[in-house]
Amino acid sequence: MLEARDLTRVWGKGDAAQTAVDGVDLALGRGEVVALVGPSGSGKSTLGGLLAGIDRPTAGSIVAAGTRIDQLDDDELAHWRGRHVGIVFQDYHLLPTLTASENVELALKLNGQRRGRRAAAKAALYEVGLAEKTHRLPSQLSGGEQQRVAIARAVAVQPDLLVADEPTGSLDRATGEAVFGQLLELRATGTTIVFITHDDELARVADRVVRMVDGRILPEAVAS
Ligand SMILES: Nc1ncnc2c1ncn2[C@@H]1O[C@H](COP(=O)(O)OP(=O)(O)O)[C@@H](O)[C@H]1O
Ligand SMILES: [Mg+2]
Repeated sequence: MLEARDLTRVWGKGDAAQTAVDGVDLALGRGEVVALVGPSGSGKSTLGGLLAGIDRPTAGSIVAAGTRIDQLDDDELAHWRGRHVGIVFQDYHLLPTLTASENVELALKLNGQRRGRRAAAKAALYEVGLAEKTHRLPSQLSGGEQQRVAIARAVAVQPDLLVADEPTGSLDRATGEAVFGQLLELRATGTTIVFITHDDELARVADRVVRMVDGRILPEAVAS
């Protein structure tokens, strides 16, 4: 479903240049659930952004959902994202001028869904406990509520690829487990899920745990 080769992302230039992702090879199958773990600053969020097509690699290639996404121009990449990717990142990707419901409806539109968008948005927001707040702007929601809007959006769209960066980081334990369970249900629709976490209990539900250190992926431990 996704194959990244020799993926590299350098932030900054000259003396300040920093290689956040350093020659990563990664292959993900359809419906596979992968937890991306590692110390703070090891490059997890940078790698997540590259896989989701919200950032571009300095070098290397990514084939995802049948498309060589590192070679797309900005418009093509935005279109590809709309069709194929769900993004649950901590601090962006809700549009500030749209209500919770409109954020979900727009994602459905970009995904090519022609009808029933309002009802689907309402149902998804209900599922994450935001039935009473569908008409609020992101600025009128708490961090945890905004995170749940992003989760509702991903669940409604049923993307081919979901990239989630600490998707329950702003939520209390019980709410986090409940909405994370909803994200995992996307597995049944064939969604490939990559989630970044610090939480060993969440990582345990993944099919595979990928560990990053200093921008590189550690060789996978072989079960004995
Ligand atoms: N937008 C950015 N601009 C410059 N440097 C960045 C940016 N994002 C991340 N970095 C740097 O890249 C490295 C990896 O960061 P990040 O991918 O956020 O790691 P993690 O998610 O594992 O904590 C860090 O050294 C960080 O300072
Ligand atoms: Mg991070």
